[in-house]
Amino acid sequence: MEQTTKKIVIAIDGFSSCGKSTFAKAIAARLGYIFIDTGAMYRAVTLYALEHGAIVDGKVAEDRVVALLPDVNISFRFNAERGASDAYVNGERVEDKIRSIEVSNMVSHVSSIAQVREKLVAMQQQMGRARGVVMDGRDIGTVVFPDAELKIFMTADAQVRAERRYAELKAKGDNVTMEEILENVISRDKADMTREISPLRQAEDAVVLDNSHMSVEEQMAWFMERYEGIVNA
Ligand code: DC
Repeated sequence: MEQTTKKIVIAIDGFSSCGKSTFAKAIAARLGYIFIDTGAMYRAVTLYALEHGAIVDGKVAEDRVVALLPDVNISFRFNAERGASDAYVNGERVEDKIRSIEVSNMVSHVSSIAQVREKLVAMQQQMGRARGVVMDGRDIGTVVFPDAELKIFMTADAQVRAERRYAELKAKGDNVTMEEILENVISRDKADMTREISPLRQAEDAVVLDNSHMSVEEQMAWFMERYEGIVNA
């Protein structure tokens, strides 16, 4: 008789530009799990705030962001062409807009607002209630799913991450210097780790994956070993 493998929650947290989303997407495809990019949700709220006058001249009116929250309806729809889910706000596809520099510059501030986190954490818990999800973010193993069966904390040398990001931006035609990228990586690490609510930290029961010198295949092999150990236990 065929045996059904038990479905688990896989929480992936870690520093920015570590390749968390790429890794999480590959795992979800391999296991037939749902992939949830929680950073996209914080970006979606930020975009909505920018488009509805709650952020003006780089200043966030926190009370206005909070007042807008009930109107922001975030969803994901699978895009077969991309092989991944696109983010939607109130029915509009926002996948490209949420990656813009305007959103990237303001998302740290918006994601530090308590009511924003409260709403998005509740949504994330709802999305993962049936298990069978890979969720990537900063607080998944610590706050959203403290009971996740597998928690991975991803990290890589700041220099290596800056080099990857530099290559990515150069390929897109952006005019950036290695120095400014490295500075940005270091300052975002600091902002993520020192914010008051849900700062980035490793859950006690998380396993660390330092992928500074690992290929995607090596990371997948590393993952499968741990995954098999859990579902076959
Ligand atoms: O992973 P990303 O760069 O797309 O995340 C965008 C921002 O959202 C980043 O500033 C960190 C924040 N974030 C968060 O506070 N909690 C999460 N679970 C995911 C992202």
